[in-house]
Amino acid sequence: MLEVYLKNDRLCLLPAEQFSIVVEMSPCEEYQPKLRLPADRLPFFIGAGVIKSQVAIEQYAQIPELAALVIGSFSDTEWAGNDPTDTKRLTWWDKQNKTFYNAIGLRNVGRTAASEFLPEALKRVRAAGQIAILSVTALKHEAPQVVIPDLVEWALSMGADGVEINGACPNENTETLLCQDPWSTLNTLKLTRQRVGAEPYLIFKPGDLGQDVIAHYQRASLPVDAISPINGPRTMSPTLADTGKPAIEVNDGFAGMSGAAIRYVGRDNAWRWQLRPIDAPAVDRDLWSIGGVTDGYEAYHRIQVLGARMAGAAQAFYRASDPAALAKQWVLQYRESGVGVAL
Ligand SMILES: Cc1cc2nc3c(=O)[nH]c(=O)nc-3n(C[C@H](O)[C@H](O)[C@H](O)COP(=O)(O)O)c2cc1C
Repeated sequence: MLEVYLKNDRLCLLPAEQFSIVVEMSPCEEYQPKLRLPADRLPFFIGAGVIKSQVAIEQYAQIPELAALVIGSFSDTEWAGNDPTDTKRLTWWDKQNKTFYNAIGLRNVGRTAASEFLPEALKRVRAAGQIAILSVTALKHEAPQVVIPDLVEWALSMGADGVEINGACPNENTETLLCQDPWSTLNTLKLTRQRVGAEPYLIFKPGDLGQDVIAHYQRASLPVDAISPINGPRTMSPTLADTGKPAIEVNDGFAGMSGAAIRYVGRDNAWRWQLRPIDAPAVDRDLWSIGGVTDGYEAYHRIQVLGARMAGAAQAFYRASDPAALAKQWVLQYRESGVGVAL
């Protein structure tokens, strides 16, 4: 079946790989992004999960190559994640396949404890010239429409420049948290907007979604300013040869996958979120592309080829022995990718 989608102001027929018919439509008004990016740096960000403590915030704030930090995700109450005993293996790096598995399960200190250090720490992030985004999440036993509006209001009161709503939790036994359910997501985001108003910069972060689900989202016209695909897809971790058991020791061996292995999933989602069905309302939004971005070459591809406003990573920085050196390397690789690309 041939489906008709709009990408920016162009009419496209899918599947894009097989058809290259593009009809130019009348030009749209110039899009005026709500969030101003630092003019002196490339649009690189660190994804949620890497920076959760005061120490980590201060460390990353000192990296001048980074335009934005996504800090969190934070939940309403303190959460021990998938291993309250702190004795099980929650992450695994599959070196051969360059794949990282993580079943940490959103462990975080919760908003009350985070309130002790966030206001001052976010001030330092902003003083260092970076955008400070707080990521918030509903846990599996919580109702998103109840906790998310509260959490977003709280995040703004901490001084965040914007709030990322984590709509997918790949480590849970279900993908329905918000991601696969456009109508409950819409309801949650509408309640959030009612609470905080139209002004705050809100980002919705989904998991890996098919074009049909994304089309529902596009028709629903989510009241957010940016989409940040993707959270790591949930998958079974590898079986270890010596034990015959899954590498991840919780969650029946399931974990969120990240790193180079999901590069093409990340690219596909970046592309899909920029298409909209012809019967969906036109909405201008930023794209914060994450998922399989491990170097500046891929960041260049997401931004210059796929049209992302920001490109970021979690796994690459989480595992880096020297995140500052990695950020510098990204800038060199990005510059190398494009003739005439200058800061
Ligand atoms: C160690 C680790 C912890 C993560 N924790 C969170 C989190 O708390 N909230 C969230 O929205 N995503 C979290 N993620 C998902 C990442 O933000 C990102 O969407 C995913 O890993 C894909 O990007 P990557 O390939 O650059 O890692 C985490 C990822 C990793 C590797």
